[in-house]
Amino acid sequence: AAWLPTAAFRELGSRPVLVHGDGLLVDTVLDEVSRACARYGGRLWHGPPWPVDADLVLALRGAGPVPNAAAETVRLGATPAVNGTGDGALGDEGYLLTRASGVTVVLADAPAGLLYGMFHVVRLGAAAFHDDLPARRHRPALDRRMLDHWDNVALHPVSGQVERGYAGGSLFWRDGAARHEPARLRDYARLLAACGVNAICVNNVNVHDTEALLLTDRLGDVAEIAEVFRPYGIRVHLAVTFAAPVVLGGLPTADPLDERVRDWWAAATRRVYQRIPDFGGYLVKADSEGRPGPFAYGRDHADGANLLAEALAPHGGVVRWRAFVYDHHQDWRDRSTDRARAAHDHFAPLDGRFADNVIVQVKFGPIDFQPREPVSPVLAAMPATRLAVEVQATQEYTGQQRHVCYLGPWWSEVLRFRPHGAAGDTIADVAGAGGGLVAVSNVGDDPFWTGHPLAQANLYAFGRLAWDPLLDPGAILDEWIDLTWLPVTSGDPEALRRTMHAIMDDSWRTYERYTAPLGVGFMVRPGHHYGPDVDGYEYTQWGTYHFADRDGVGVDRTRATGTGFTGQYPPPWSEVYESRDRCPDELLLFFHHVPYRHVLHSGRTVIQHIYDTHFAGVEEVAAMRERWRLLAGALAPAVHDRVAERLDEQLRSAVEWRDQINTYFFRKSGVPDAHGRRIH
Ligand code: GCU
Repeated sequence: AAWLPTAAFRELGSRPVLVHGDGLLVDTVLDEVSRACARYGGRLWHGPPWPVDADLVLALRGAGPVPNAAAETVRLGATPAVNGTGDGALGDEGYLLTRASGVTVVLADAPAGLLYGMFHVVRLGAAAFHDDLPARRHRPALDRRMLDHWDNVALHPVSGQVERGYAGGSLFWRDGAARHEPARLRDYARLLAACGVNAICVNNVNVHDTEALLLTDRLGDVAEIAEVFRPYGIRVHLAVTFAAPVVLGGLPTADPLDERVRDWWAAATRRVYQRIPDFGGYLVKADSEGRPGPFAYGRDHADGANLLAEALAPHGGVVRWRAFVYDHHQDWRDRSTDRARAAHDHFAPLDGRFADNVIVQVKFGPIDFQPREPVSPVLAAMPATRLAVEVQATQEYTGQQRHVCYLGPWWSEVLRFRPHGAAGDTIADVAGAGGGLVAVSNVGDDPFWTGHPLAQANLYAFGRLAWDPLLDPGAILDEWIDLTWLPVTSGDPEALRRTMHAIMDDSWRTYERYTAPLGVGFMVRPGHHYGPDVDGYEYTQWGTYHFADRDGVGVDRTRATGTGFTGQYPPPWSEVYESRDRCPDELLLFFHHVPYRHVLHSGRTVIQHIYDTHFAGVEEVAAMRERWRLLAGALAPAVHDRVAERLDEQLRSAVEWRDQINTYFFRKSGVPDAHGRRIH
């Protein structure tokens, strides 16, 4: 049930409710409300006629005369907008929520708005029916709010059923076939709609042989999934291989400028839209980590993306072209090549060449979803291109859903970052200009959806931040706790809320403390990426090095003496990051190679910071585990045990991280801990 336990519908379901309007998504609203009313004794009218004493009116403007309270609301045209345009328009997904004459009113211009408005009422619970409910227009700041599933249809020998999946199998596929389990998919669609997600991609960006066929022979399976998600306002997308004309069409080439290739894509895409008229579009990982792409034909990424864009344009679809392109056969001896530079080197020069329905999808940081990275400079370098920002809800590098790591604060920091300085746009503005926000999904067929029950908060927070990037991540957590846990606790709700906050609020920073000091990432076990291995990637082809030696640590990415990566940022950051003195502590080792005794802004030396944060991180995890123990009895044993078990593992793992990292840097530097704590 996650954030939609039955009891979350109690307030709405125990009242007279009136729904006005028609359409597929209005039917969804009717279905939700009628089930809630059947359970909690309320009553639903699909008017007119309507009763005078409804407590809640959910009405589509333009669906004919509206009931009294709603009519009054229509006159309140000038109510303040929340992340809206201020012009009074509600758009395709927006709604007005207010109280008028003792009635709660949701007004929308399109059915999706009514659905989102209804979920807002659910979220508010009793507060939705208080007379002090403020009148507000709500519109999503980002039109595109998408989850990418890295799910394989066939069990893949290396990446399994779900690449980087930590929550069991795929909801869509199993052992080479579709699961055909619409009931569970429907539950999932409800959860997504309730937090604001409106798009999904149903297969892995690494498109293997079986998955390539989703575009053609297996299209029926995709259509079936689309049927389930459509009533919740969610459009289905497909990851496709750039080599499709060759591997599916039998052509000798996939050259984007070849007529036959263009015709093949046009025809294949036409067939997709015949089956799925509201199909969202394609997602492509090309020339990246061995995937085929335009480079093989001497073409660039604009040629490649525009080819698919041309096929999709007549049907209103978009192509999402990933910017995650780098040399994954780097020589570790070569200090001039810098993986961080790669996306900008490849894509920034192409700004202005992409078709209107191309979205370039950019990982939030220049490397790869680490617990700490600067924001990708690509996001500041392509004003003439629609850009989407990609984050990772699946916790590949943040504890793999065995560790508690609430990512809301991290994403919020990224979204609020202003790459051009205080007067410029935020990353949220960049995403809002067309491409939106995307997360790699953390969901599977696990009974708790996300393996770690507390990891559900990441999915919820993603949807809410995509709707409104300025929301406070602590407030989002509060909503999530209210919806998910308060209805199901047998203990003191306030104590539960406090404990959840105490465990989760700072859990990302705690994770950072014991794994990734001062912007150094990738000290993980190669391949699966779980647990510490300080030199695991140091002498590999992957371009993810820390360069620790006896004197110091960190990557020199300056223009003066390093790889020049700092020069990809506009001012002021190009200057701030270039300067060892001005660079923020948390990114120092991302941009600079410094001696262990270099003094941070915090006043501590680098080496002492490493020791201190690793000791502190473990203590914080131990405290989390104690706090959780106190909740035994307040929650169902199955969920309590699941989290308790994972906290045991988190503590074990954090100790391992602390000891390996501290020992490693003590051995390299020879500098003892100022507090004489045990280092092995
Ligand atoms: C990471 C991840 C891969 C994934 C890739 C991507 O490198 O480890 O599993 O395929 O990102 O985003 O394409």
